[in-house]
Amino acid sequence: MGTETSILLPSATVDLFLRDRETVEAAKALTSDWRFARVVVRVHEGNVEDAIKLYAHAASPEIIMIETDTTDQGFIGRLGELSGHCSEHTSAIVIGPVNDVNLYRSLTAMGVSDYLVRPVPIETLSEVIAQSLIEKLGTTGSRLIAMVGAKGGVGVSALAQVLAWGTSDTLLQKTLLLDAAGAWSSLCVGIGFEPVASTAEAIKAVVAKDADSLRRMLYQANDRLTVLATGTESMLDVPSQIGQFEEILNTVMASYPIVIVDLSSAGPLLKKTVLTRAHETMVVTTPTLASLRTARALMLEIKNLHGGDSADIDLIVNMAGISPGKEVSKADIKEALSCEPGAIIPFDPKLFIGAENEGRKISSEKSGVDVVQKLLPLVKKIVVKEVPSDAANDKKSGSILDRFKKK
Ligand SMILES: Nc1ncnc2c1ncn2[C@@H]1O[C@H](COP(=O)(O)OP(=O)(O)O)[C@@H](O)[C@H]1O
Ligand SMILES: [Mg+2]
Repeated sequence: MGTETSILLPSATVDLFLRDRETVEAAKALTSDWRFARVVVRVHEGNVEDAIKLYAHAASPEIIMIETDTTDQGFIGRLGELSGHCSEHTSAIVIGPVNDVNLYRSLTAMGVSDYLVRPVPIETLSEVIAQSLIEKLGTTGSRLIAMVGAKGGVGVSALAQVLAWGTSDTLLQKTLLLDAAGAWSSLCVGIGFEPVASTAEAIKAVVAKDADSLRRMLYQANDRLTVLATGTESMLDVPSQIGQFEEILNTVMASYPIVIVDLSSAGPLLKKTVLTRAHETMVVTTPTLASLRTARALMLEIKNLHGGDSADIDLIVNMAGISPGKEVSKADIKEALSCEPGAIIPFDPKLFIGAENEGRKISSEKSGVDVVQKLLPLVKKIVVKEVPSDAANDKKSGSILDRFKKK
């Protein structure tokens, strides 16, 4: 696998029209390749005629792969017909029966981006698709969300879990939730798993590129939500490798579109590392004076880490209503912190402590869904959008079927 394609591929759809059994199996296996987490691979048992029928009515995807038994003028004519039904942003790759340099040359000269000989092994198939998508759409990466508290007990861990269920269940994004608290983490209670490693062991595994060990440290909470099941160290240990924590981020961000880090009980070094790199930071506070004061100072420090840019630093006011009459009003918060809270979440012990005690996810209740809905817009604004086809096409060459049309 080329290192330049060892990345999470951008969101895209690939349609394959195949008959060769081996190639069909290879195509189906693409879905278990982590790089393809955001790529929809549709395998149609068919040929160029089926493709023509489909795109006469439906929009064409980023890549079409067509298997053919013949490579004569008849087939070339049908490819021309197909191109008439496709968007000019669609790339075509042909899989044929023979290795023929002249055929390869004439097809690529016409705008077909590649010609492969069947059966196509999975390594070739995945590499050709990966290269083509990166060329077309660029290497859009995953998004890091940092959640940090103005002080302890303001609800960072609770909200990090709510958010992780939301991004996985509602936004349907493959999400990794990471608690940087070591043995102080309560994530295992909220999600319901046993820690199997220490943070130091996780760092060791990623530094050694030991994918098997790392895989054993991951707990699958649902189809799309994975948790790094750390926390076996003793509470008063100071992990010597903590400076290398970023290696964990580097590794997991290559395979998860969304990575959420709960910094509520992390030390300053780790907080700084993650906050510097985060695409979105949520500073959680209660609506009380002491907490808001720290929130203000913390937000300023994070803004400085981001070169003075505060666009992706949001204030989350949690437990609104916890001390009626003694809370700072929304208007005063806005004035004192020079920002509108990104979300205000009511104090609701029945919901939060209830879910915690019974090991339920908060979003399984209506009032919990409301909390998810309040937080999700802050993620949606940073989730990678698909590159508009026009912008993608500007940079492209050798992959445009519409050259057929000009012939
Ligand atoms: N909006 C809320 N209403 C009621 N209880 C809450 C709320 N948010 C969090 N909690 C509860 O407050 C306690 C502390 O929250 P936690 O997430 O552990 O804080 P932190 O991680 O910031 O230290 C937990 O028992 C949690 O369930
Ligand atoms: Mg916590």
